[in-house]
Amino acid sequence: MPSGRARAARIPFVAANWKMHLTREAGVRLARDVVAAVGEVEAPEVVLCPPATSLDAVGRALQGTPVQLGAQTMHWEPQGAYTGEISAPMLVDLGCRAVILGHSERRQYFGERDEDVGRKVRAARGHGLTPIVCVGEGRGERESGETDAVISRQLTAAIAMLAPDQLPALVVAYEPVWAIGTGLTATGEEAARVAALIRAQFGAAAAGRVRVLYGGSVKPDNIGEFLEAPGIDGALVGGASLDAGAFSAIVRAAATAAR
Ligand code: PGA
Repeated sequence: MPSGRARAARIPFVAANWKMHLTREAGVRLARDVVAAVGEVEAPEVVLCPPATSLDAVGRALQGTPVQLGAQTMHWEPQGAYTGEISAPMLVDLGCRAVILGHSERRQYFGERDEDVGRKVRAARGHGLTPIVCVGEGRGERESGETDAVISRQLTAAIAMLAPDQLPALVVAYEPVWAIGTGLTATGEEAARVAALIRAQFGAAAAGRVRVLYGGSVKPDNIGEFLEAPGIDGALVGGASLDAGAFSAIVRAAATAAR
């Protein structure tokens, strides 16, 4: 790690959450376009998280490139009678390095509870996957001043089952639910404040090593504000990650911020 960097202890991290978009051919094309645009960019760790049906094809397209493969969710058991689910060993088998866990859409539409996220985070770390743990308050919670309590509750449950030496490898994405897919964003100042709150829950040994991302309507024209926010190490990008040009602009901004 070069010395003299403001964030020398942490490599920036940019993840693309494709959600339920793109079949294999379109996904492979997007992955190739992203690699062509960011393949030479040093510094940020870049992870593409396609839908499960495209993991194999996109993983092959990413082989031998610095861009990594990630998944959008998984089950906490390694195998079993869980119709429709996918396990950590299966993701590892496909070449995944990371997995998004506890995304607000999983919590909201699929009943994922705080303790489920904790089990998943433990399983992911146990199989060597980097968990990208999503936390964030809803609009009503924000308006009633519950933001900090919600983030603390979600994060406490997410990391409850980890051993101390498993904590530093975590990536935590602060995604205010009201900012996801809406075009609204938190301010850099708010993101920095929540990033500090998140780090404070990790204890001295891990706090400086955990990477904290901002997510929620991140675009090339607003990423700068978040990268400048103290304690924010990158972004989890939804809509803009479906456009190779927009996503690679975000990655390049993170590379510049790291210098
Ligand atoms: P968005 O999604 O960038 O489309 O707001 C972010 C996310 O849900 O991870």
